Amino acid sequence: MKKNKLVEEINRLKREKRAVILAHNYQPEEVQDLADFVGDSLELSRKAAEVEADIIVFCGVHFMAETAKILAPKKKVLLPDLRARCPMADMVTGDDLRWMKGQHPGKKVVAYVNTTAEVKAETDVCCTSANAVKVVSSLPEEEIIFVPDRNLGYYVSQKTGKKLHVWDGYCPIHEDIRPKHIEKMKKKHPGAEVWTHPECRPDVLSLADRILSTGQMIKEAPKSGALEIIVATEVGILHRLRKENPDKRFYPAREKAVCKNMKRINLRKVYKALLLERPEVIVEAGIADRAREAINQMVRFV
Ligand code: 13P
Ligand code: SF4
Repeated sequence: MKKNKLVEEINRLKREKRAVILAHNYQPEEVQDLADFVGDSLELSRKAAEVEADIIVFCGVHFMAETAKILAPKKKVLLPDLRARCPMADMVTGDDLRWMKGQHPGKKVVAYVNTTAEVKAETDVCCTSANAVKVVSSLPEEEIIFVPDRNLGYYVSQKTGKKLHVWDGYCPIHEDIRPKHIEKMKKKHPGAEVWTHPECRPDVLSLADRILSTGQMIKEAPKSGALEIIVATEVGILHRLRKENPDKRFYPAREKAVCKNMKRINLRKVYKALLLERPEVIVEAGIADRAREAINQMVRFV
């Protein structure tokens, strides 16, 4: 089917089935352009909970669709390709976290939303990159278990001054953005600001003018005085930044910063998912019930 026809058919099925399409800021351009709502992990979780629909087609990775399903258990949540998983989320298992809790008895657990439902079920509060500092600051405890992102954990411990016991996980895409990439881009564009995602390594964060989640980058770009910005995160974010700020220039810190799991979703798979109403994301009720409170706390923090 040609692209125009696919889009037409997707829109027809959407109306017929009372479906909405949610897409993460890292999705391929064609998927972002088709979606009813594009956002970061936090915005998408909120949207999933509040949107009136029978079906959510989640264009992102598995943990995001799982989070949507936990927040909206009555809605059918479809992930157009079940292989779209986040390697960082898969770096810590429920067993790993139970072991860590055994090493630090009585300590509260904060889990990045990039975790499986099983891990969230073992967690006190979840957070995203947009609210991790606020979530950790809000806890009275000075010592906290934090999983799975060591880079976000480092950043949060610096900002809050708290002692975090951090799991050794990381995002391979952000980990591969190195100071040499930033320095090279700075040489090419000396007047540009550097904006990094907190999943980047500490040596990259130390070169940043601003450290922001993808949703925060979208909100801050129109308000910023900077006319040129080097963006250190997955390159999918550039589509919206450029579209919504035609007067500014955005450069990828590293062009190869591509999350292949995010790019597994395409228009053809969205169409097929809507047509067949699968693959569906199911979360076992016992796990979902235990994970929901930690996620609900997360969505309360702006
Ligand atoms: P945000 O959407 O919170 O910016 O996170 C980025 C990310 O890597 C999601 O997988
Ligand atoms: Fe996971 Fe990194 Fe891909 Fe985000 S960009 S989904 S953290 S692998």
